[in-house]
Amino acid sequence: MTFEAGYLIMVTMKVQLQINPNLTSKTGFLVLPIFEQEKPIFENDTIIQFLKENPDFGKPHETESLYCTDTKILLVGVGKKEKFNFETAQNFAGTAAKTLASKTKDLSLIPPTTGSFPLNQSIEAMVLGLELASHDPGLLYKSEKKPKKLDTAFILLDKNDSEYQESLKKSVVLAESINLARQLSDMPSNEMTPSYFLGVARKIARENKLKITVIDEKKAKLLGMGAFLAIAKGSDEPSYIVALEYTGSLRNKEKWGLVGKGITFDSGGISLKPDKGMNEMKYDMCGAANMLATILAVSKLKLKNNVVAVMALTENLPSGKASKPGDIVRSYSGKTVEIVSTDAEGRLVLMDALTFAQKDLKATKLIDMATLTGAMIVALGDFYSGVFGNNEEFSQQLIEAGKSTGEKFWEMPMDEIFDEMVKSDIADLDNIGKPGSMSGAASSIKGAKFLESVIENNRPWVHLDIAGPAWNNKPTSFASAGATGVGVKTLVELVRSS
Ligand code: BES
Ligand code: ZN
Ligand code: ZN
Repeated sequence: MTFEAGYLIMVTMKVQLQINPNLTSKTGFLVLPIFEQEKPIFENDTIIQFLKENPDFGKPHETESLYCTDTKILLVGVGKKEKFNFETAQNFAGTAAKTLASKTKDLSLIPPTTGSFPLNQSIEAMVLGLELASHDPGLLYKSEKKPKKLDTAFILLDKNDSEYQESLKKSVVLAESINLARQLSDMPSNEMTPSYFLGVARKIARENKLKITVIDEKKAKLLGMGAFLAIAKGSDEPSYIVALEYTGSLRNKEKWGLVGKGITFDSGGISLKPDKGMNEMKYDMCGAANMLATILAVSKLKLKNNVVAVMALTENLPSGKASKPGDIVRSYSGKTVEIVSTDAEGRLVLMDALTFAQKDLKATKLIDMATLTGAMIVALGDFYSGVFGNNEEFSQQLIEAGKSTGEKFWEMPMDEIFDEMVKSDIADLDNIGKPGSMSGAASSIKGAKFLESVIENNRPWVHLDIAGPAWNNKPTSFASAGATGVGVKTLVELVRSS
């Protein structure tokens, strides 16, 4: 039985472009960007006085409310002019929205621009910042709701242009998709089961005319997806591999395969994780949620590309039916795997999903996204995603797309020197790989090398380990704590620009 998701709350705010505004008769707050050591775009006596007394004001996310006789003003720092980019513009608007959420019904923003950062990009970034800052995962579960007044934002412009309206529309689609991914990822695993996720995917497929293919465990057995089933069989919840397909061009022979890790809870299985922090493993389906959001945005934006998103959905739990360390299974690729740790489950479910994307769905270019290794956080921290690939040009395209959308990616080494590390003495592959000089050595690279071993015919492939940036442990000045939807912006941009 599949469970149909009945509702999805998308908490967003109305954003409008306002042409030729009267700056001194605003009812809500006027939000003014302040570059460090620069004259503001708009001035009155109060602003001049404040900046005279605080000449260093203007660091990113710094705020100050000024109550003038005819307007309420919020100054928001945007840092050094020469460093200004998409990320700073997004966070400028996000900081304003979060600071004023309970203080005003509407706000008006003066868009920050520089010689190298034009107005249309500023609009795109601000819309994202405003919408992403309005998302509050607590709204679903807290009995006492925080009063939130803010519902409309105006972006103030000197002149109208169809390009600006396009930027607004595009960004709203992106932000809604990202907020959907965040909402799904923030849901606890007692609600966010593989069946629930499937229900959401079905709803999205129906509403956006996407083709949907569902592989349940029975079908997976028939196909020989032994790696996926090795994890699925430990859980009482039904597991699925789900594919959503969007055809934006019949002439274009390229087909993107976007594969996401969708472990709705990762306890580690029989190789049980320690108690501390295990609750965070509800986020182990962020990769799948972000790929779902990406194909949703691609289809809503009607891009002229072909994309299939493949999501491997299951829980990783210990039980009498669960796989045990030392078990050997045959994957859909034909390769056998010695499961040395049942906690390295992501690569098992992904390897079969990657094979499915190639063999059955005929994807010509592949990207997989996963909260794959804790070691990724040790290596790159909370803000960078690790990039592992088999094609330098493809990896660089992705990293460049990330720079234009303000998302941070870092390329990791993938030369043959690591190949030996994922071989098992008794099967083709070892799912945790050989130790180097210490057991966790090159853990994230071994995960990537394991996945690379099922890529057929050298087709371009990138693995993104998003373990660090997939969720925030603490709220920031522009976002609540919880899932971030990392990578959606960049993948949409990458597909669009290809
Ligand atoms: N889902 C985890 C990785 C993870 C841990 C992501 C913490 C984000 C925060 C993954 O399935 C896992 O457990 N990986 C193991 C691999 C190891 C057994 C080779 C790890 O990283 O410890
Ligand atoms: Zn695990
Ligand atoms: Zn995991």
